[in-house]
Amino acid sequence: ASTSVTLNTGAVMPTLGLGTWKSKPGEVEKAVEYALKEEGYTHIDTAAAYENEKEVGEGIKMSGVDRSKIFLTTKLNNNDHKDVLGALLLSLRKLDTPYIDLWLMHWPAPMVADLSGPDRSIDWIDTWKEMEKVYKDHPDKVKAIGVSNFSVEYLEKLLAVATVVPAVNQIELHPSCVQQDVVDLCESKGIVVTAYSPLGSDGSPLLTNPVVKKIADKHGVHPANILVSLQANKKNVTVLPKSVNPERIRSNKKLIDLDDSEIAELHKIDETDHFRACHPNWTGWGGLGFKDCK
Ligand code: A2P
Repeated sequence: ASTSVTLNTGAVMPTLGLGTWKSKPGEVEKAVEYALKEEGYTHIDTAAAYENEKEVGEGIKMSGVDRSKIFLTTKLNNNDHKDVLGALLLSLRKLDTPYIDLWLMHWPAPMVADLSGPDRSIDWIDTWKEMEKVYKDHPDKVKAIGVSNFSVEYLEKLLAVATVVPAVNQIELHPSCVQQDVVDLCESKGIVVTAYSPLGSDGSPLLTNPVVKKIADKHGVHPANILVSLQANKKNVTVLPKSVNPERIRSNKKLIDLDDSEIAELHKIDETDHFRACHPNWTGWGGLGFKDCK
């Protein structure tokens, strides 16, 4: 597995990043500090929706690591599609940083202020156009723009009109959610894929899956190492294991090489044990082009 990928902007993005979805204020500061200061992580992923940007920013400062040595991602929340620049400025203020390395549209799903349902007065295509404008107008504040949770259908719609090709599409990726159609399309368009919930998120059955366990035993590593490595072994894919536990933050760094037959065996799990950890069921929303997200 390579330790970094190059974005279509020319910027380098470290393959391994610390995920912070579900990392709570009070614990996420220490996790970020520990990952950066003690374990050599150089890539942190957060989002306005995670409600921990302020604490992620504090962790970065507590680490003492120079901002220029860190790749930092945050995301535009679903209820901020009407005020794209305002949302960016608020994220920068919360993170207490002059710029972010990567800014993603969190979902192609504009929602009303209280997030109770879709906001049909706005088209996410227009949101992307606004993100392009902010990116072009404020290169000092945002170094790259991209998307998240985009299926093939949505990506094709976007690529037909985009003047800036997204640098990244961040999607759920693990042996029970392989999404090879999305990965292949991104690869063909030079879009880096970032894998979230690579372990299958909280209480994941993948950590005790017999196929994962067998391959882990063969390599003498923990099942989590196989799950993170599965993504890191793919071309132009980066991966975000989430943990607030120091031992796991340390252990999750260990990437191993997997051969094609091991990768195929892991991907076969999806055929019988498919699931999504992040399954949108927003009332009244029309689906996102994923066959299992209606
Ligand atoms: P914790 O934060 O307490 O370590 P994902 O990255 O797929 O979203 O998975 C995150 C979940 O897996 C969290 O519940 C996290 O808990 C747990 N986790 C992270 N690393 C490991 C590991 N090496 N072994 C077991 N569980 C882990």
